[in-house]
Amino acid sequence: MDTKSERIIIFDTTLRDGEQCPGATLNIDEKLTIAKQLARLGVDIIEAGFAFASPGDFEAVSRIAQTVGTSEGPVICSLARARHEDIKSAADAIKAAAKQRIHTFIATSDIHLEYKLKKTRSEVLSITGEMVSYAKSFTDDIEFSPEDAARSEPEFLYQVLEQAIAAGATTINIPDTVGYTTPSEFGALIKGIKDNVPNIDRAIISVHGHNDLGLAVANFLEAVKNGARQLECTINGIGERAGNAALEELVMALHVRRQYFNPFLGRSTNSEEPLTNIDTQQIYKTSRLVSNLTGLLVQPNKAIVGTNAFAHESGIHQDGVLKNKRTYEIMDAQLIGLNTNKIVLGKHSGRNAFRTRLKELGFELSENDLNKAFVRFKEVGDKKKEITDWDLEALVNDEIQQA
Ligand code: KIV
Ligand code: ZN
Repeated sequence: MDTKSERIIIFDTTLRDGEQCPGATLNIDEKLTIAKQLARLGVDIIEAGFAFASPGDFEAVSRIAQTVGTSEGPVICSLARARHEDIKSAADAIKAAAKQRIHTFIATSDIHLEYKLKKTRSEVLSITGEMVSYAKSFTDDIEFSPEDAARSEPEFLYQVLEQAIAAGATTINIPDTVGYTTPSEFGALIKGIKDNVPNIDRAIISVHGHNDLGLAVANFLEAVKNGARQLECTINGIGERAGNAALEELVMALHVRRQYFNPFLGRSTNSEEPLTNIDTQQIYKTSRLVSNLTGLLVQPNKAIVGTNAFAHESGIHQDGVLKNKRTYEIMDAQLIGLNTNKIVLGKHSGRNAFRTRLKELGFELSENDLNKAFVRFKEVGDKKKEITDWDLEALVNDEIQQA
């Protein structure tokens, strides 16, 4: 392992699993634009698509491999089912990249075996070995995923993982494909794998999870505590159904709470060394780009990148933040690339925020005038959702200067 692997590896699947989201289809140029921004963001691996899925996907993966897959850039990966034709197509699509990965998968839960694959456990076991070896004939960097791992019978899962590692898989990815598991269960699953799969230390343990119960990020953090070192995630958490674990939430949780996570990575509690290679100041820009190009809006109260994530409306909060922003802010807006936090003036705002904004607009009012203006401000606040700077200027001019 190089020194980077002691950090948490960020595997971005916005362009593969993220794009598997109703209405999110991207054209090749748009994918390339996003891939370039993901490289600026500092993700370690870009899953650029599923090369065998369509000629367009193949082309997108190839163009990203050629353009973004430089020796200083991220690893470029393509997904492939555990089939010869998929793996060959993935290998062809990524071949221009300096660092290449094939990510192959097959389901391991009984429900998937019976209804989807119509295969026995022993068939899945031998396909795993055969297809990982085949993928290994193209590149050394092979990721294997037992799809629906979180609902698979643990003993069978261990056998499949052992087989994948023996055949040369260097990353073992554990998907919670249907977002069913809870944090303590997911943590226990990772621990079970570490304790029971022979030669597990030859591979990096990765996690992949969907957000059907809103638990994907919490599950991943518990997985990190139990030995997972690669997180598969998407910008804004886009993806199948309720989406994937959100990159920005994971990265900022690991950053803001690094003292909590440090010991799980064998570091001293107070170490300030970053836990990921992400340039957090690129987060907001990347979120806006993905939202604009996919057309998928970010909900206002979305953690980290929602428009309200750094906004304060209530008077008590505004007053606190103006005195010391740590009263109601656990991180600086600048950390994710915003200029500043946002004090939103509305009916819940207090006198301190009102006075501060008037001062910023160049109005120095006497105490008496401020009181009069504040009464009028509250009346306007009852009628409007947000009071803009224009409203404030009009209000002060009407109420004070004409008096
Ligand atoms: O959700 C899932 O199981 C996947 C796999 C292909 C990793 O996306
Ligand atoms: Zn998925």
